[in-house]
Amino acid sequence: MKIFVKKGVLADAKSQAIILTLFEDSKKLSGITLEIDKKSGGLISELLGNGDFEAKPSQVSVIYTRGALHAKRIALVGMGKQSDLNLEKLRAAFASVMRHLRNLNVKEAATSINLNLLPGKKEQVAQAVAEGALLGLYQYTPYKTVGREDLKEMDQLNIIADEKNFSLVETAIKKAQIITSAVYFARDLISAPSNEMTPSIMAQKAREIARRKNISCKILDKDKIKEMGMNALLAVASGSNEEPKFIILEYTGGRKNAAPVVLVGKGLTFDSGGISIKPSEKMDEMKTDMSGGAAVMGTVMAAADLHLPLNVVGLIPATENLPGGTAYKPGDILKSYSGKTIEVLNTDAEGRLIMVDALTYASKFKPAAVIDVATLTGACIIALGDDVIGMLGTDDKLKKEIISASRTTGELVWELPLWESYHELIKSDIADYKNSSGRAAGTITAAAFLSKFVGDYPWVHLDIAGPAWTSKEKAYVPRGASGVTVRLLVEFLRNRVRK
Ligand code: BES
Ligand code: MN
Ligand code: ZN
Repeated sequence: MKIFVKKGVLADAKSQAIILTLFEDSKKLSGITLEIDKKSGGLISELLGNGDFEAKPSQVSVIYTRGALHAKRIALVGMGKQSDLNLEKLRAAFASVMRHLRNLNVKEAATSINLNLLPGKKEQVAQAVAEGALLGLYQYTPYKTVGREDLKEMDQLNIIADEKNFSLVETAIKKAQIITSAVYFARDLISAPSNEMTPSIMAQKAREIARRKNISCKILDKDKIKEMGMNALLAVASGSNEEPKFIILEYTGGRKNAAPVVLVGKGLTFDSGGISIKPSEKMDEMKTDMSGGAAVMGTVMAAADLHLPLNVVGLIPATENLPGGTAYKPGDILKSYSGKTIEVLNTDAEGRLIMVDALTYASKFKPAAVIDVATLTGACIIALGDDVIGMLGTDDKLKKEIISASRTTGELVWELPLWESYHELIKSDIADYKNSSGRAAGTITAAAFLSKFVGDYPWVHLDIAGPAWTSKEKAYVPRGASGVTVRLLVEFLRNRVRK
């Protein structure tokens, strides 16, 4: 769907549907809503008077204007109580009304944004409206061939802005479009089945991103990975006929020698567990084990399209984890790229293996900060549930920056501790570390393992095993891939620029 910002009067819009927001606790009409109510001969007040619409959060009601306005319909969307309003509720409301209209086969709608809904947040309010509308309408349909003509699609949302706020709204919408495109990009990659999203195809997608100005892409192939001694990555790849790829995306929007932010994303295009094979129930969902990598690619893409004046590096170790005849096995000892040795106790704890070679590689860039994103542990879902990102790391300032970004984007983040005592659990009897220490504190021991390979840079790890994939539709996340952390990381980068 395309969003256009236009000058004009909403009440006069010749649209298939005019969208209006209403609060639960102030049903006295005012402003544009009052104007449109009057013009339409009281259609809205009649509905409210009958008690047919309470303006509960994301509630939608559609009124047919029958010629009273140029517009064919008025779509009311509830915003809940005024004092409870926040950016998340705003995103949810617009996702809800847009989906409702799409179900009616409406192709186009018009609205205007009350920028004063949240004090001091005009741009964020405009951005949230566009984000909610776009993210809520996402659907993944390339493999539907039967009944394609029945697929419904919204084409256009026109946002009517007055002279005074026009350029502010236009800028905010443009940014929202860039950021949601990056989320769409990540969702598309994650939704793609693993037979069509192999490490090589991921690398190809990275090359496509790098057609932009200021982005370069380097792909290390299997021979290079071997030559360099990234044996942890190589071991995970050893059971598959698909070659691993180590993807390096570099965006230089800042000064040439300015230290970059390095983002590392887990790129397991399919995780069967390897020899420590997973149960077959829900194994299909493990095509999403490259969600961190996809989010990192999307973030680099958005950083470039937003022309952020800083340097960002994206590192994505990409491979399958399969139990082939040449697969690595429990008991194997690997010499990682860092030189430190790892005893493999469980081949299903493969994410941390490929991530540590990338974390070692990250040091080459003398990073200002390193953030890694991975669907690393099922334990994170047990600890925090489906909606929450687990955060662990060594740098309090960096953690604060992430939390602050998450307050804006609504991607929930909760910190787990990385206390000394946990580090005992990953010591190996025979090698330096072991890759698995059983069920207790699984998310923490995974992060403790990563920390052993973290160089001399501020580091935070984000475990997205929960929110990467959504089995129940959420407000503006349709069932399936969420693209989580794209908006979070972009907001984090934007905040660094604002400072
Ligand atoms: N990719 C999985 C983690 C995962 C599980 C993500 C469910 C999303 C949903 C990871 O590679 C894994 O298998 N982790 C193991 C670690 C264990 C063997 C120490 C796990 O969580 O069971
Ligand atoms: Mn695994
Ligand atoms: Zn995995």
